[in-house]
Amino acid sequence: MKNYTELSDIEDLQQLVTEALELKKGTSTLEIGKGKTLGMLFFNPSLRTRLSTEKAGKLLGMDVMVMNAGSDSWKLEFEDGAVMDSDKAEHIKEAAAVLSQYCDIIAVRAFPDLKDKEKDEAETVLNSFKKYASVPVVNLESATGHPLQALADAITISELKKKDKPKIVLSWAPHPKALPQSVPNSFAEIIQNLDADFVITNPEGYDLNPEITKNVPVIHDQNEALKDADFVYVKNWSSYDNYGQKLSEDRKWTFSAEKLKLTNNAKVMHCLPVRRNMVIADEVLDSENSVVIQQAGNRTFAAQAVLKRILEEKVKAKDLEGNA
Ligand code: CP
Repeated sequence: MKNYTELSDIEDLQQLVTEALELKKGTSTLEIGKGKTLGMLFFNPSLRTRLSTEKAGKLLGMDVMVMNAGSDSWKLEFEDGAVMDSDKAEHIKEAAAVLSQYCDIIAVRAFPDLKDKEKDEAETVLNSFKKYASVPVVNLESATGHPLQALADAITISELKKKDKPKIVLSWAPHPKALPQSVPNSFAEIIQNLDADFVITNPEGYDLNPEITKNVPVIHDQNEALKDADFVYVKNWSSYDNYGQKLSEDRKWTFSAEKLKLTNNAKVMHCLPVRRNMVIADEVLDSENSVVIQQAGNRTFAAQAVLKRILEEKVKAKDLEGNA
């Protein structure tokens, strides 16, 4: 694995999940990251991604440096040919090249601004790091995807599933703010690569990008969709068609104990942070059906498996260089 910026960077999902579960046992001491540095840049806040990825790097023997981009560092310019007379003091060309001398892997979190679909889909921040850095780049949640979260979700389902082909429902929920589509996009993408009966349910106007959901059935009646579900992934997202807009705050979509009763005693998932009694009711989050804590715990092993793959690729490339 050269980079981990999108799910298609995974060649063998099942093998990577198995490897992450082996790492979770914590039986092996890994030295592959010794003498290597992971640099993490956050353009947006984080609890889980920041700490689980830092922990993952350290479990592999890496040194880890973290910076809040923009507030701790200079504001970055991403436009080619810009006349830099605004508040942006440093161009990504220099910043990425300099960071590549300090870090063996650069990881970046950069949310969308949800104003301009085309601009967000261009993934300017992430792709600029990929373009101008000379070391591998990892996506810590970008404008359109959260592949580390999705891998942790796949690991959690793999641990908990009781049948070969579980029914998995991705269910929209209300939220006071307009949120990115990154998490549901990546979840929808990874589940299509697992053996599952997968259904998405959301109100009219909230269908995700059809290029991502492809042939996954989208049901606008939540109660109908939830029937016999083994897993329910609850998540808010803003409209894709009316790009970035919050069209509804309909509390009928809040995932409650009543909704849970419609399922096959489903395991309830959410990437966190979760707004209690808005997205998911207390009675569900505090029940044994909720697996959100286990899911967040698996973020460490997802990140560890990915960083390990990237470090292994670097060792392989170095060996080839040596043999040339
Ligand atoms: N799920 C997730 O990415 O959490 P953070 O935003 O806290 O990193």
